[in-house]
Amino acid sequence: MPIILAIESSCDDTGAAVIADGVLLANVVATQKVHEQYGGVVPELASRAHQQHLLPVVTAALVKAGIDKHALDAVAVTQGPGLLGSLLVGTMFAKTLALALDVPLLGVNHMRAHILAHFIREPKPDFPFLCLTVSGGHTQLVVVRSALDMEIIGQTTDDAAGEAFDKTAKLLGLPYPGGPRLDQLAQTGNPLRFAFPSGAMEGYNFSFSGLKTSVLYFLRKQVAVNEHFIAENLADLCASIQHTIVQTLLRQLRAAAAATGLRQVALAGGVAANSGLRAALLAEAELQGWAVFIPDFEFCTDNAAMVAMTAHFQFEAGDFATQALSPDPRLKL
Ligand code: KG4
Ligand code: ZN
Repeated sequence: MPIILAIESSCDDTGAAVIADGVLLANVVATQKVHEQYGGVVPELASRAHQQHLLPVVTAALVKAGIDKHALDAVAVTQGPGLLGSLLVGTMFAKTLALALDVPLLGVNHMRAHILAHFIREPKPDFPFLCLTVSGGHTQLVVVRSALDMEIIGQTTDDAAGEAFDKTAKLLGLPYPGGPRLDQLAQTGNPLRFAFPSGAMEGYNFSFSGLKTSVLYFLRKQVAVNEHFIAENLADLCASIQHTIVQTLLRQLRAAAAATGLRQVALAGGVAANSGLRAALLAEAELQGWAVFIPDFEFCTDNAAMVAMTAHFQFEAGDFATQALSPDPRLKL
């Protein structure tokens, strides 16, 4: 019954979690506010903030779990993908701690962890299932055969779904990250008022950069005629943009489900919080007879609990790393 400490520092959230025999005991995250004023994550500032947050976050997780560090059986850390400087802080810390405690090290893939977040709490999907991972950095359709066997069948060729939300929200003058605010405003708007191009591509791939450009040119044209256009139509603009992104995601998900015959559909990543996406997915599931799985929000955004869960599966499979582990910003699934 392994007790594992897991560390997540791939982007701008510093996380630590403790898991004992697959049961989550503590999950602590420190979110970095410093980036808001810049309208996006500044890598150098993210690394520095990780350095400040890591020790207090790890200590808080151990205290909350009621686990002494000498009781740990392994230390796990996100190896990639992510920002190199951010990953370096986490991997150096984890390697040092594992060495000092003389316990094995586990290197975890961040994208795999987003998917295995579904196994932290009930209800859990059975293998195999189809997972749509939508975050600020990724958009992937993945066939999940087991905890250690996954295949990407579709992904974005440019912007991620979260980026599409954030960048279009920025064009509307909303503060970073605009996704949640756009979602909120969309709730009182008319989703069919404005038509924007779909980002569905060949196969099960996605492309969201066209949407961003189309919204940019559309707003420029309208604002030239009426400078209050955005303010006067904000809710309808938000609803129409959200509708476009959600329908694109759903269209590819539907096609992938039909082609693979998978009837368990899971949502992962921060964009899983989007109310329009949740509602559309649940309605589609009703129609198609799918079982839908969406983790609690705290396990959808970047967190160490999902890293701990993945590490638990890897520990059981004997998939350990060595002190030679180095961060890989482009680590493949
Ligand atoms: O998974 P996550 O926390 O971080 C990454 O690994 O990227 O995802 C963050 C992304 C951001 O782009 C944020 O705007 C988006 O998820 N997001 C949302 C909502 N909540 C978070 N997008 C649309 N609607 C939301 N309610
Ligand atoms: Zn993530």
